[in-house]
Amino acid sequence: MATPLKFAYWVPNVSGGLVVSTIEQRTGWDFEYNKKLARIAENSGFEYALTQARYAASYGADQQHEATSFSLALLGATERLKVIAAVHPGMWHPGVLAKFMITADHLSGGRAAVNIVSGWLKDEFVNFGLDWLDHDERYVRTEEFIRVLRGLWTEQNFSQSGKYYNINDFTLKPAPIDVPGRPHPEIFFGGNSTAAQATAGRVADWYFSNGRTLEGYAENVNGVLAAAAESGRTPRFGLNGFVIARDTEKEARDTLREIVEKAHRPAVEGFAASVKEAGASTKDGKGMWADASYEDLVQYNDGFKTGLIGTPEQIAERVVEYKKSGVNLLLTCYLHFQEEVASFGRDVLPIVRELEAGLARKHGTELDTSLLPLSPLTSQARPGNPADVAPAVPAGALA
Ligand SMILES: Cc1cc2nc3c(=O)[nH]c(=O)nc-3n(C[C@H](O)[C@H](O)[C@H](O)COP(=O)(O)O)c2cc1C
Repeated sequence: MATPLKFAYWVPNVSGGLVVSTIEQRTGWDFEYNKKLARIAENSGFEYALTQARYAASYGADQQHEATSFSLALLGATERLKVIAAVHPGMWHPGVLAKFMITADHLSGGRAAVNIVSGWLKDEFVNFGLDWLDHDERYVRTEEFIRVLRGLWTEQNFSQSGKYYNINDFTLKPAPIDVPGRPHPEIFFGGNSTAAQATAGRVADWYFSNGRTLEGYAENVNGVLAAAAESGRTPRFGLNGFVIARDTEKEARDTLREIVEKAHRPAVEGFAASVKEAGASTKDGKGMWADASYEDLVQYNDGFKTGLIGTPEQIAERVVEYKKSGVNLLLTCYLHFQEEVASFGRDVLPIVRELEAGLARKHGTELDTSLLPLSPLTSQARPGNPADVAPAVPAGALA
């Protein structure tokens, strides 16, 4: 059976939306907005939400809610959505995070996950009085951090001694909640450089990339797979994309043009300077944002590069192209989150599922619809499936 593509959205927990532009963005960063958004998402075919971690005002995001506490609140406000909180090694001790996440996992019935990010904003570390490590050294620390996290989640009397962390004979009680097929909260990992790919291949459950073209993405996948093969692992793959789905391709392209025309130029140029610390400082110059143009940087995770811009049909076709090149989870962002998450679920997802089913048939198999997250769409697609005896969509959730 073929596994359906999974979908996630970026939690807008920082102000200013996901593009640095004065174009209208009907997106809030407060909890009430996000609570409603999360409920819309879990009823529209989305399985995950990703909360970003920022500590200092930067790049239009003048106000930021902390990622782990915000994620926990979203888990409490939803029933099926898995919420991934971004965390920085160097800001957290892995033992404290392991413990925090076990509690979050119990409180949410096994829906808590982490995205380990190695950091790019030097000022956040330096002004907190924390060490700012060189680019590749940050990944040495990240690898140790993830090994500690997994060790504490899966072993009793766990010990690990390394360059950055020394854990001595530690057992966390309780252990993470027992979810079939999931040994512990899922460990996502975000980064694009060669060092990031190698580290993710060795230790992450999921590798998240910033927006990439199809060719660029294949490079990242190969880099991760090479490291994973040496360690006998099989990580899964996520990719960021900014979605502009409109009735006509022209409308979608005009919207992109307007976003870029109304970009806040000094902020984009300031961002370009500060991300050099993350990307251009890598030995081979292949870090994130290394090849980003002015237009790309207006969406700070390179989301325009993925090209999810056009009619629902065009976007669905492109999404399935990415699936063919190895994407298992598409991480999406929008101008108007509540409206567009709902319309993505209504207009784009059914076409994606049809195309995926066709692709599966071409390979002599079937799309495993029992793996689809429960939503009004899937309950129609799975009549009689016992898993569909589930909470109805709250009245007005999509209003
Ligand atoms: C999907 C994704 C999510 C990320 N989220 C965050 C975040 O919340 N906070 C942060 O400081 N960095 C975040 N990053 C940035 C990475 O941690 C890293 O600093 C960046 O990829 C630059 O490093 P690289 O050149 O090694 O790729 C994210 C990266 C990706 C791909």
